[in-house]
Amino acid sequence: MKKHYFYLFPLAVPVLLHYLMMTSCTAMKRLSLGTDQSALLALKAHITSGQQEFLSENWSSTAAASSVCDWIGVQCSSRHQRVTALNISNMGLTGTIPPDLGNLSFLVSLDLRNNYFHGNLPEELSHLRRPRFVRLTTNNFTGEIPMWFGHFPELQFLFLDGNGFSGFIPSSISNLSRVEKLDLSYNFLEGNIPEKIGNLSVLRELYLSGDDLVGQIPLSLCKFSQRQVLDLSNNRLSGQIPKEIGNLEKLKELYLITNNLTGVIPREIGKLHGLKLLVLGRNNLTGTIPREIGNLQNLQGLNLEWNQIMGMIPKEIGNLTMLTELYFANNSLTGTIPPEMGNLYQLENLQLPYNGLNGSNPPGLFNLSALRNIELAFNHLSGNLPPDLGHRLPKLWAMGL
Ligand SMILES: *[C@@H]1O[C@H](CO)[C@@H](O)[C@H](O)[C@H]1NC(C)=O
Ligand SMILES: *[C@@H]1O[C@H](CO)[C@@H](O)[C@H](O)[C@H]1NC(C)=O
Ligand SMILES: *[C@@H]1O[C@H](CO)[C@@H](O)[C@H](O)[C@H]1NC(C)=O
Ligand SMILES: *[C@@H]1O[C@H](CO)[C@@H](O)[C@H](O)[C@H]1NC(C)=O
Ligand SMILES: *[C@@H]1O[C@H](CO)[C@@H](O)[C@H](O)[C@H]1NC(C)=O
Ligand SMILES: *[C@@H]1O[C@H](CO)[C@@H](O)[C@H](O)[C@H]1NC(C)=O
Ligand SMILES: *[C@@H]1O[C@H](CO)[C@@H](O)[C@H](O)[C@H]1NC(C)=O
Ligand SMILES: *[C@@H]1O[C@H](CO)[C@@H](O)[C@H](O)[C@H]1NC(C)=O
Ligand SMILES: *[C@@H]1O[C@H](CO)[C@@H](O)[C@H](O)[C@H]1NC(C)=O
Repeated sequence: MKKHYFYLFPLAVPVLLHYLMMTSCTAMKRLSLGTDQSALLALKAHITSGQQEFLSENWSSTAAASSVCDWIGVQCSSRHQRVTALNISNMGLTGTIPPDLGNLSFLVSLDLRNNYFHGNLPEELSHLRRPRFVRLTTNNFTGEIPMWFGHFPELQFLFLDGNGFSGFIPSSISNLSRVEKLDLSYNFLEGNIPEKIGNLSVLRELYLSGDDLVGQIPLSLCKFSQRQVLDLSNNRLSGQIPKEIGNLEKLKELYLITNNLTGVIPREIGKLHGLKLLVLGRNNLTGTIPREIGNLQNLQGLNLEWNQIMGMIPKEIGNLTMLTELYFANNSLTGTIPPEMGNLYQLENLQLPYNGLNGSNPPGLFNLSALRNIELAFNHLSGNLPPDLGHRLPKLWAMGL
C-alpha cells in the first residue's frame, strides 16, 4: 500500500472513482469468440472477488450482439475492433493475471490500479508489442520486476508503485528510450540505482521512493536536462549530493528526504531556477546553507530538517517570496533569524526548533499573516510577542516558542 511518507506537501488523495470510464467503439458487433474476447474472459475467470458479479454480467459472451468493445473498461480501435485499452482500476478486484492477457496484441494502455491483484506477472505479457501506458499501482504483485518490461519499445509511462516487487531494478529498463514517467516507489527493491537509468533521455519524472535502495545517486541521472521530478526519498542512499545536479535546469521537485546522504548541500543547487520543492531533510548533511539558495525564486517548500547543518540562516532566504513551507528543525543553525524572513509573506509553516539560534525574534515574523504554524522552541531566542498577535496572525493554530 502507498504510504504517506511525506506530510509536508500533501498530494491530493485521489478520489476513488466508482464509475468506470466507458468508451464504446463504433459498433461493429461480433458474435465470434475472438482472441481478445477469450483473453478477457480468462481474466474474468481469474478474478475471485471484488465487483466480479458486475463484470460477470457485463463481460458476457452470451449476451446477444455483445462485442468486447461494449464491455465496461474496454476500448477498441475503430478500424480493427481490437482491444487497445483495458481500464479496470478502482474495482476492488482480487485475483491473478492469466497468461492469456498477453494475447491482447493491440493493447496500448493497461490500467489495473487500486485493486488486489497478486502473484507474478506472467511471462506471456512480454508478447505485447505496443504498450505505451502501463499502470499497476497499488496492487499486491510480487516477484522481480520482469526484465521484459525493457522490451516494450513504445512504453512512455510505467507505474509499478505500491506493490510487493522485490530484487534489483532490472537494467533492461534503460532500454525504454521513450519512457517519460517511471514509478517504482513503495516496493521492496534493493541494490543500487542502475547507472544506465541515466540513459533515459526523455525521462521527466522518476520516482524510486520507499524502496531499500543503497549506494550513491548515479551521476548519470544529472546528464539530461529533461528531468522535472526526482524522488529518491526513503531509501538508504549514501554518498554526497552530486554538484552536477545543477545541470537539471528544468527540475521542479527534488526529494532526497530520509536517506543516509552526507557532505554539503552543493551551491550548484542555486542554478535550479524552476525548483518548487527541495526536500533534503533526514539525512546526514553537513556544512552551511548555501546563499545561492536565494536564487530559487519559485521555491514553495524547503525542507532541511534533521541534518547537521550549521552556520547562519542566509539572509537571501528572504528572497524566496513564494515559500509556504520552511522546515529547518533539528540542525545546528546559529546566529539570529534574519529580518529578511519578514518578506516571506506567503509562509504558512515555519519550523526552526532544536537549533542554536539566538537573539530576538524579528518583529517582521509576526506580520506574516499567512502563518498557520510557527515553531521556534529549543533555541536561545528572546523577545516579546506583540499583544495583538491573534489579529496579526489570524490563521495561526499552532505555535511553539
Ligand atoms: C482509468 O479509469 C479511471 C477512472 O476509474 C481514470 O481516472 C483513469 O484515468 C483511467 N486510466 C486511463 C489510462 O485512462
Ligand atoms: C456493459 O455496460 C455498458 C455500460 O454500462 C453497457 O453499455 C453495455 O451494454 C453492457 N453490456 C452488457 C453485455 O451488459
Ligand atoms: C492465448 O494465450 C494462451 C496462454 O498464453 C494460449 O493458451 C492461447 O492459445 C492463446 N490464443 C488464443 C487465440 O486464445
Ligand atoms: C498481499 O500479499 C501478502 C502476501 O501474499 C498478504 O499477506 C497481504 O495480505 C496482501 N495484501 C493485500 C492488500 O492484499
Ligand atoms: C533492448 O532492446 C532491444 C531492441 O528492442 C532488444 O533486442 C534487447 O534485448 C533489449 N535489451 C534488454 C537488456 O532488454
Ligand atoms: C548509455 O549511454 C552511454 C553514452 O552516453 C553509452 O556509452 C552506453 O552504451 C549507454 N548504455 C546503454 C545501456 O544504452
Ligand atoms: C548510514 O551511514 C553510516 C556510516 O556509513 C552507517 O553506519 C549507518 O549504518 C547508515 N545508516 C543506514 C540507515 O543505512
Ligand atoms: C548519521 O551518521 C551517523 C554516524 O555516521 C549514523 O550513525 C547515523 O545513522 C546517520 N544518520 C542517518 C539519518 O543516516
Ligand atoms: C536577494 O537578497 C539579497 C539580500 O537580502 C538582496 O540584496 C538582493 O537584492 C536579493 N536579490 C533579488 C534578486 O531579489
